[in-house]
Amino acid sequence: MTNTVATPENTAPAAPPAIAPNILSHTRVRTQRATLAQSPTGKKSLIEHYCVHCGKTFSSSYQTACDHCNGMIDVRYDLSRARLYVSTNPYVRFADLLPIQDPARLLPSNVVYSPLIHAQSLGKLLGMPDLYLKNETVHPTGTTKDRMAAVALPYLWEQGVREFCTSSTGNSSSSYAYAITHHPDMRVHIFTAQDFADRVWYTDHEQVVHHVLRDASFVDAFNFAGVYAKQHGLISERGFFNVGRREGLKLAYFEACDQTPKPIDWYIQATSSAMGVFGTYKGAKELLGLKQIDRLPKLLCAQQESCAPMVRAAAENSEEIRPEHIVAMPQGIAQAILRGDPTRTYPYIRKIVLESKGAFAAVSEAQIREARRMVEECEGISPCFSAATALAALIKLVRTGNFPTKETVMVNLTGSDRPPAPLSARIRWYNRIGNEFVQAPAC
Ligand SMILES: Cc1ncc(COP(=O)(O)O)c(C=O)c1O
Ligand SMILES: [Zn+2]
Repeated sequence: MTNTVATPENTAPAAPPAIAPNILSHTRVRTQRATLAQSPTGKKSLIEHYCVHCGKTFSSSYQTACDHCNGMIDVRYDLSRARLYVSTNPYVRFADLLPIQDPARLLPSNVVYSPLIHAQSLGKLLGMPDLYLKNETVHPTGTTKDRMAAVALPYLWEQGVREFCTSSTGNSSSSYAYAITHHPDMRVHIFTAQDFADRVWYTDHEQVVHHVLRDASFVDAFNFAGVYAKQHGLISERGFFNVGRREGLKLAYFEACDQTPKPIDWYIQATSSAMGVFGTYKGAKELLGLKQIDRLPKLLCAQQESCAPMVRAAAENSEEIRPEHIVAMPQGIAQAILRGDPTRTYPYIRKIVLESKGAFAAVSEAQIREARRMVEECEGISPCFSAATALAALIKLVRTGNFPTKETVMVNLTGSDRPPAPLSARIRWYNRIGNEFVQAPAC
């Protein structure tokens, strides 16, 4: 395959997020067969929303569950008309596989691929000649969630949403707070448990309202975001069940398919709700449908032992998360993935992990620390402990002889650490009273 040269990107009038300086030396955008086109053209009509359970289709207003059967809503594209474009900007190249009607106006115009590192040194230690690390630490807020926000915000906007509630362990919220300045008529309410408050990075501005809950877990904050939205007539975007989020997250894998010289056999990622894994697998099916790849990746979902509800449920071959799998107040060094209760997303993830012939694996704090040390020393990348959890899971399986080391592997190093954020004086604090949260009087 020969390299392509990037053509001028779309000239979006709305200023997109600037991205940190980035290395493209490892990037090799492949020439694709008949599907190449020069640039996406305006409005698209190849997007359809549907319920994955009953098949009901939906027009464009924001919905996170089917009103007929409560099933998950997903999006599909008319692959007979979808094209890939000649560009090193993933939002241009893959515009036809994103749920945005007006990509040229609403998606970032100055973003390039993140680096894919052929980890030869680490690979040698592990006996893995084809180990690739996607370095997602290079994004403006330091995590892959910037891809999520870059797609989810225009997605919400096109569905008519201007003000919404969300929650996270810090990274998604930071990405939303960063990207929302490029959509001046939007406003986000961010809900976090107190332990995660300084993980949310934003410059204080009117478009961000930060609500912090005392004595709360991440799941409490997620639920309270829903309650607050209902009370105030706002949209609760519901994380995993926001199609725009999942679709944005598949771009790391899309890029890697262009960047690797060999087809990717394994996709490995640290897992909280597993929206990244889910988006990736769906995206892989789209690339397969477009004949851009010749196989789907096997999926390895990694969690830390102190908060591994999916791994526990999967080990028992359980089709659902049962009460004994849930971790009520999870603790651990991999903070970004401290979701103790993934009840609603797990069944969808289990299905695709089984279908892909992949696996779930949990690792200890010591294994996470060692994996991070190894990738720092061997490849000069310093991921956060959550991102390092993915690598730790791979190393664990390799050492126990449970991994086909000669296959081509992509580990998504999903993010890096940020220093603790200063807490804004505008934060709205809430105290727990029984099972409720009540706003504390302003000091
Ligand atoms: C750095 C990092 N890695 C992995 C994840 C897991 O994300 P997902 O919800 O896709 O499982 C997160 C979630 O916030 C994250 O911030
Ligand atoms: Zn349905």
